[in-house]
Amino acid sequence: MTLLPCIIDKTEIFLKRLNGLSESGNSFPLTDLIISLTFDIIGAVTMGIDFDAQVPESSRQGEFIRVYDQLVHTFQGRSNVLPWWCHPKLTFRRYTLGKKVDSLLEQMIRQKHSEEQPQEKRSVLSLSLQGHDRLDDQLLAQTIDQVKTFLFAGHDTTSILLAWAFYFLHRHPKAHKALVSELDTLFGPESAGNFGLLKQKLLGPGGDELLNNMTYTTAVIKETLRLCPPAGTARMAPPGSNLVVRTPEGQELCVDGMILYNCATIIQRDRQVFGDTADEFMPERWLGDKSGIMSSSNDGDSSIEEGRRFPASAWRPFERGPRNCIGQDLATIEARVIIAFVARAYDFTKVGLGELERDEKGSFVAEPTGKYRLKGNEMYNVSRLVSASSR
Ligand code: HEM
Repeated sequence: MTLLPCIIDKTEIFLKRLNGLSESGNSFPLTDLIISLTFDIIGAVTMGIDFDAQVPESSRQGEFIRVYDQLVHTFQGRSNVLPWWCHPKLTFRRYTLGKKVDSLLEQMIRQKHSEEQPQEKRSVLSLSLQGHDRLDDQLLAQTIDQVKTFLFAGHDTTSILLAWAFYFLHRHPKAHKALVSELDTLFGPESAGNFGLLKQKLLGPGGDELLNNMTYTTAVIKETLRLCPPAGTARMAPPGSNLVVRTPEGQELCVDGMILYNCATIIQRDRQVFGDTADEFMPERWLGDKSGIMSSSNDGDSSIEEGRRFPASAWRPFERGPRNCIGQDLATIEARVIIAFVARAYDFTKVGLGELERDEKGSFVAEPTGKYRLKGNEMYNVSRLVSASSR
């Protein structure tokens, strides 16, 4: 919660950009704007540095953003799955760009370390440097690695969550209405589209309680993460550990030395758990689920405990266990805040893939289930890394 003012400041820049673009009347990719917003937030949270990813004309940290983007681009396409010798030039470029990213981060970390009184004391970087008078090579290398993990893991995922959430709200008018009604009740209808007022409410006394009471918004986030989990993970037991898994048919398999991909997309659409509506966007299913957005405290227990409507292991976008996502609190606070500012202030209309059908009067056409009918094909996730800068 101490990061709330920073999240709101960065969101203000995002809203100004959104205003400018929506006034132009042109269509534009919302994801680009969200990605640079979440990058700015994670930069501030991780390093206490303003990367200015949302301000393309700024050159303050421009070099880092540019090189980082170029590095990310080397991971696009099929090169990810082919051995390095199939694309030696690309591998070399990736290596040199990686070194450049490391060297730019090194400069920033050295600078932070040399500051006697860091202005912010809560960034991941200041906390990890605390108590280390000397920045030796090992500490430096470890810090660079950790910072890179945070910067990457902390913006790509959250931006995908938000992009899908706005799309689902656009397609499901009932859910949109319920969300707007919750925001009106909690923050007052007069705060819709009023940045200053909403900011005042969130940062004022009781602001954290307001955030905690955003139950429907939380359900929207949870349902979006269920249907479209933005991240994945894998596990491997070293050979000789004798790790045995049992299939639903009762067959026992030793999986030592194998990489197991926990496919959240399949697990979270299990009809045995979520019923016939497993593929539908229904935030209501999470209402009354007392386990809250994070339920890692009950890790490993797949029974339905008191207050929980579904088995703990059926919802795992942040994964479970001791290596689960360290940023899940931040991600969900961030998403709640951004949705609170955006959902009542703008209407989004998807164009291209996932576009909705309109009748002769130009209105969207509802299906019997209440959601709007698609003009063409469903949207789907693709395997792609997102870059940090704004276009
Ligand atoms: C909607 C947003 C997010 C999703 C869906 C997500 C998902 C995940 C997943 C599935 C993992 C793998 C965990 C495992 O293997 O058990 C992970 C790891 C991680 N995440 Fe997130 N994440 C999100 C946001 C964030 C944010 C905002 C941060 C930064 C504050 C962050 C930092 C990390 C880090 C550092 C790890 C590695 C943890 C470790 O290996 O111990 N994530 N995340």
